Amino acid sequence: MNSYRIPVLDLKKQDRPARPAILRAIRRVLDRQEYVQSAATERFERAFGRWLGVREVVGVNSGTAALYLALKAMGVGQGDEVITTPFSFTATLEAIVHAGARPVLVDIDPATFCISPAGVDRALTRRTKVILPVHLYGHPADMDRLGAMARKGKVQILEDAAQAHGATWNGRKAGTFGRAAAFSFYPSKNLGAYGDAGAVVTDDPDLAERLRKLRNHGRTARYAHDLVGYNERLDGVQAAVLLAKLPFLNRWVRQRRSQAHRYDLALKNLRMILPKVHTKARHAYHLYVIRVRNRDSVAAALRSHGIDSAVHYPVPLHLQPCFKKLGYRRGDFPESELAAQSVLSLPLYPGLPKSHQARVVQVLSKLSESQNL
Ligand SMILES: Cc1ncc(COP(=O)(O)O)c(C=O)c1O
Repeated sequence: MNSYRIPVLDLKKQDRPARPAILRAIRRVLDRQEYVQSAATERFERAFGRWLGVREVVGVNSGTAALYLALKAMGVGQGDEVITTPFSFTATLEAIVHAGARPVLVDIDPATFCISPAGVDRALTRRTKVILPVHLYGHPADMDRLGAMARKGKVQILEDAAQAHGATWNGRKAGTFGRAAAFSFYPSKNLGAYGDAGAVVTDDPDLAERLRKLRNHGRTARYAHDLVGYNERLDGVQAAVLLAKLPFLNRWVRQRRSQAHRYDLALKNLRMILPKVHTKARHAYHLYVIRVRNRDSVAAALRSHGIDSAVHYPVPLHLQPCFKKLGYRRGDFPESELAAQSVLSLPLYPGLPKSHQARVVQVLSKLSESQNL
């Protein structure tokens, strides 16, 4: 066993250039004792809105809360259907179930791992209230076709942009297409806090107003509550960390792209499928995900050479025990099921040493030569 490890992600390395600004920002929150409902939260909301190009940003305490509160604010409830993909993190589906609606699952396009627009077209019914595409791994879903369908069917779009900070479709940022979008700032995300954090973004001020109430106990003023809300606020320390990191985000996404490009070139002749990028898309490479035949043995071989990898995600959501009640079965979403067996996320993050990347390529090349791929 190798004692020298190459991790999938090293936040200490990534955050090194931002560290002094982060520490100053945290100290400012502590000095002002503004832990909840902090000025830092408002400042981050304005800054993130400018960066993304949206009018309203409502900071909340996770990407999961962002999805769930957005669905509630968009009027989703019992009797409604929300169309989404089974190939995502569990939070996407959880949010729909918690909102009281029925999730209608549609298989992915195997080229991009995002929801198949043709499948969405077939799944639309009179009860469809929202289409919820996930920009998985940082590759945007086909927002032209989904947008056209939503307009025609008079349904809303909520984008799950948890993994897509910096991705674009037709030159426009992911998270600016739907009626609203949910971002996660979980520490490992392209823009990550030092704990849980998230935001709903929208151009609709009324929707934003409802979200501001929902995240804060339905509050209109101190001890005045308009509706039964939640405690899902974005706290001051996390907002300060995000505000300090935001100026680095574009540079970090560029670094992710150049590392992905390096993998693309070095791995292109090996026995694996590399990430494909739609001609209208710019990938944000939250994750660099290859597809290999003997995935688990490839991961084990990498590990024996000191290289970590990860699987996002080994079980499609329709096969998770917690979603059994939805009534789906193995075989219902063959592309998602195949992807779950073959995907492998390689080390990629801003600050990844070139020598680490070269070592990953070297070991994969050796495995390929010995036909172990
Ligand atoms: C696609 C997707 N949706 C939703 C979430 C939920 O975000 P959070 O972990 O901030 O609640 C995540 C993050 O883990 C995610 O990857």
